[in-house]
Amino acid sequence: MEATNNNAVYYDDTVVRQFSIMAVVWGVVGMAVGVFIASQLAWPELNFGIPWLSYGRLRPLHTNAVIFAFGGCALMGTSYYVVQRTCQTKLFMPKLASFTFWGWQLVILAAAISLPLGYTQGKEYAELEWPIDLLIAAVWVAYAIVFFGTVGIRKVRHIYVANWFYGGFILAVALLHIVNSAAIPAGWMKSYSAYAGVQDAMVQWWYGHNAVGFFLTAGFLGMMYYFIPKQAGRPVYSYRLSIVHFWALIFTYMWAGPHHLHYTALPDWTQSVGMVFSLILLAPSWGGMINGIMTLSGAWHKLRDDPILRFLIVSLSFYGMSTFEGPMMAIKTVNALSHYTDWTVGHVHSGALGWVGLITMGSLYYLIPRLFGKTKMHSVPAIELHFWMATIGIVLYIAAMWIAGVMQGLMWRAVNPDGTLTYTFVESVKATYPFYVIRVTGGLLYLGGMLVMAWNTWKTAMSGRSVKVAVPAAVAHA
Ligand code: HEM
Ligand code: HEM
Repeated sequence: MEATNNNAVYYDDTVVRQFSIMAVVWGVVGMAVGVFIASQLAWPELNFGIPWLSYGRLRPLHTNAVIFAFGGCALMGTSYYVVQRTCQTKLFMPKLASFTFWGWQLVILAAAISLPLGYTQGKEYAELEWPIDLLIAAVWVAYAIVFFGTVGIRKVRHIYVANWFYGGFILAVALLHIVNSAAIPAGWMKSYSAYAGVQDAMVQWWYGHNAVGFFLTAGFLGMMYYFIPKQAGRPVYSYRLSIVHFWALIFTYMWAGPHHLHYTALPDWTQSVGMVFSLILLAPSWGGMINGIMTLSGAWHKLRDDPILRFLIVSLSFYGMSTFEGPMMAIKTVNALSHYTDWTVGHVHSGALGWVGLITMGSLYYLIPRLFGKTKMHSVPAIELHFWMATIGIVLYIAAMWIAGVMQGLMWRAVNPDGTLTYTFVESVKATYPFYVIRVTGGLLYLGGMLVMAWNTWKTAMSGRSVKVAVPAAVAHA
């Protein structure tokens, strides 16, 4: 394995290429389903009376496609790239890495078939039935072996901070998935949770919130710590802060889950623990955001003409926004207003479209040309166009949901002097209609941007070739 002058060793980039391309493909698919269900909320006849197209079945298809297919492929692809570069070695067990790619695509295919058919465990973000869960566990263990194996055979002493975040994400997701999916099978596509009643809810939201913390945050922070310094051409603002950021974030996230279960049968003190830890979570989240944004200090001018950097930095402002909003929504009295309303959906998408989406797009725009032996994407103006379509799309989406959410919360709690409700539920639905139409418009713009990216990726891949990059023989510090 040792690289010499005559006997070059190459990075294993085939699997990175495969995951990167599929991240773009699944991004288009998952967002298209998002636009479709957003349209169904405005115009319910769009289910055409066909059970497979009903909202209840397509909604989990959307969440699974964007989180696990789009997000998952981007995370696995970038982590394989980053771990090799920062450890200056090939992947450990490349064939197993290839298994993770094909295994993960099989999981996605199984989800795309089983969810519209109505098979579900009924747990949000953990809907897939037990045979698919077993496949997920197998792929994930293989992923952990490849990732940590590569760290194990590294040629530099130091383990760069991006790998800590990717590593934390891989370990936590394994734990969450295995514990929350424990179930007793009652047929090939039917099972019952191993937990009952309020314990089931508690385990589910421990899972659900940490899916946000580790799948939708820690892994993407790994991307941030590698791709922002690379694209900006500057070192991380404070390496010391990045280490504090890591430990504080992973410790705090684990305890915040009960904020999803305020005012339920869950013991009240557990809800308070969830609320307090959510408030504390603001500090590490903002520490990380500041570390990312300040990496640009002294190079702010680059934002003017580098659309890739703009994707990466604007993603951090949305990260800051949603991690300010989240702790506020975790306060019980605020949650009494926001829960069950579209405010939650607005919060979700400021994190999902603004943070997860934009950081992924920026990282892929950095990565894709390099994977195909080019210095830049086929069209830089198209990246610019994508940036504006995405940003305007997000603003329309989240502003509409915030207004709709607060309006719904206020309408539902309004009472007349005689104690009767001021508004019927259906009146709040009618009042929400224009905001649902605005969301469809925002979603269409965001999806349109993703289609521009798909075209640009296609052109870049077609005009380039699958290059082999040699691992440097003389190993410097990462
Ligand atoms: C074109 C872009 C998108 C559109 C139009 C869209 C639309 C929607 C709609 C209509 C819902 C259902 C809301 C409800 O039940 O009231 C939803 C839920 C959700 N979407 Fe999206 N979405 C988009 C992109 C994304 C992306 C990129 C992600 C993640 C990376 C994402 C993550 C989620 C999640 C987690 C939920 C569940 C929210 C909850 O339960 O509160 N979406 N989306
Ligand atoms: C400090 C960080 C954060 C805190 C404390 C937080 C807190 C919260 C709270 C209180 C809710 C509403 C629970 C409810 O009323 O049902 C919520 C929902 C949600 N948040 Fe966050 N949030 C944070 C960051 C984020 C980020 C960055 C993302 C996305 C990338 C995100 C994704 C979600 C999702 C998907 C839900 C909806 C869950 C569901 O009901 O299906 N959150 N969050």
